[in-house]
Amino acid sequence: MQIAFRKIELKKDWPMLAKWNEDHTRINYPAFHGNDAYLKSLKAWIRQEPDGQLVILADGKEAGTLSLLTEGPDDANRFGTLLRLHVDVSFRGKRLGTKAVEKTLAYFKEKGVTRVKLMVTKTNDCAVKLYEHNGFAVTRYQMERRI
Ligand SMILES: CC(C)(COP(=O)(O)OP(=O)(O)OC[C@H]1O[C@@H](n2cnc3c(N)ncnc32)[C@H](O)[C@@H]1OP(=O)(O)O)[C@@H](O)C(=O)NCCC(=O)NCCS
Repeated sequence: MQIAFRKIELKKDWPMLAKWNEDHTRINYPAFHGNDAYLKSLKAWIRQEPDGQLVILADGKEAGTLSLLTEGPDDANRFGTLLRLHVDVSFRGKRLGTKAVEKTLAYFKEKGVTRVKLMVTKTNDCAVKLYEHNGFAVTRYQMERRI
């Protein structure tokens, strides 16, 4: 399978991205509803770092999305964030996720970034495994409670 990446074209890609976001929030953020917050964030990411907002292509077909952002208070403290990785359900288990993580590391290396962060939902076993197998380790806990 030929895997490639292209930049998101928001107007054309939004229906597909919105559908993926519904699945993404169901798995990772069940308390959130609707696509408005994602659209707002995505627009900001595109403004800030357009070359990091990507569609994953498998043999030329749109198979997922990857969002990367270079962040930090100053040049000495820059880090890369993998904001979103989503593979369409019909393409899962075909190493696209692994290729996307490899792409992430290459992308940030090219930018001279030496640390890459991401947030993953504790119960998302498949994603946790993917990141652990690619060298990520827990450095911090995000805690949450209902009030
Ligand atoms: C997490 C996700 C990106 C993985 O993508 P993928 O293309 O299926 O991943 P890969 O095919 O590269 O497989 C990665 C690992 O997960 C395992 N895996 C794949 N599908 C699995 C499944 N259904 N159940 C359990 N493990 C699974 C693979 O065996 C592989 O492990 P290995 O490295 O030990 O062989 C994909 O499942 C997804 O998009 N999930 C919904 C969105 C999400 O939760 N994203 C991550 C949070 S940011």
